[in-house]
Amino acid sequence: MTPIRDCTPADLPEVVVIEQQSFNHPYPLAVFTKYLRATFLVAELGQRLAGYIIGIKMGDKTLIVSLAVHPLYRRRGVGASLVQRLMERLPSSVTEIQVRPSNAAALGFYPTLGFERKQVIPRYYANGEDAVVMVRRRGPE
Ligand SMILES: CC(C)(COP(=O)(O)OP(=O)(O)OC[C@H]1O[C@@H](n2cnc3c(N)ncnc32)[C@H](O)[C@@H]1OP(=O)(O)O)[C@@H](O)C(=O)NCCC(=O)NCCS
Repeated sequence: MTPIRDCTPADLPEVVVIEQQSFNHPYPLAVFTKYLRATFLVAELGQRLAGYIIGIKMGDKTLIVSLAVHPLYRRRGVGASLVQRLMERLPSSVTEIQVRPSNAAALGFYPTLGFERKQVIPRYYANGEDAVVMVRRRGPE
């Protein structure tokens, strides 16, 4: 299991590098600074950060704001561990994420954790791309 802990201000430069390696429209440092007040977790492999996840709770719904794993550390279960830990930290009946239809990795990844496609929001992103809303509903306990 990947070691996962809360993000600190000192982690943010490395988080920004992961972000820039992962997205065409990366969030800037100021956005991450703001999200230090949310649930913001990092996965550590050795001395390096392998990935991060940010989540917020709205009522009985947990929203995954962002998730990224450094390209060098993908397909080792880091992303899955981050999502699992976030769901433990923010237990809700529903966990939700918005994904670009062009993001084949994310569309392959989330179903492995029990997420299903719920709806498409047309022209959700600034470049006019739709968003696919994926949800995971908590099963009976
Ligand atoms: C999506 C992302 C977070 C997955 O992280 P990861 O650490 O590589 O994922 P895991 O190793 O935990 O993958 C678990 C399973 O998800 C599926 N999966 C992961 N990446 C996949 C891909 N590129 N294509 C298809 N399925 C994939 C696989 O079934 C995988 O299990 P396997 O490796 O045994 O086959 C990572 O690719 C990433 O950071 N992408 C860029 C940023 C991004 O798109 N973030 C999500 C925005 S909504």
